[in-house]
Amino acid sequence: MKNNVLWILICGACLIPSCTKQKTENFPNPMSEMAISMRTMTEKMQEVKTALKNESAPKLNFLSFSSLKMTDDSFDKPGFTQMAKQLVQLSEKFDSEPTIQNYNDIVYMCQSCHNYLCPGPLERIKKLEYPINGSSN
Ligand code: HEC
Repeated sequence: MKNNVLWILICGACLIPSCTKQKTENFPNPMSEMAISMRTMTEKMQEVKTALKNESAPKLNFLSFSSLKMTDDSFDKPGFTQMAKQLVQLSEKFDSEPTIQNYNDIVYMCQSCHNYLCPGPLERIKKLEYPINGSSN
């Protein structure tokens, strides 16, 4: 019986087109402002992760994204704005105090929101995590 619930959850996620993995193929739809901003953030995080390995740390300078246009307004659930704000705050904290812990806190925030409303990119986000204790990614 538990499995049924799981499948409903998984299939529910499939209904949101921009949040599924098909995005890695071609991009048939024009990208929303939000999606563009997400990609920019992903690229900056990747850069910073690489830089951290060499013990330098460029600034993230994330901008608020909560009022950008989304592919689908159904993402705009209760808590969205709050999480979006927290992400920017965490990025500011990193910019003033660039530690690995502060970096990973940002990744965890990306994951929280994506777990909640947009699971498609989670795998990609997971790769942004800075490996601690010798795990290999
Ligand atoms: C407050 C919620 C929230 C947070 C925090 C968040 N995202 Fe997103 N993300 C979204 C939503 C909603 C979309 C879908 C946007 C759209 O299609 O309009 C998205 C889309 C994406 C996409 C897919 C973009 C595409 O190609 O269509 C990637 C990749 C992504 N986010 C990475 C990240 C990363 C990395 C972080 C942390 C730095 C992050 N997200 C933080 C809500 C969030």
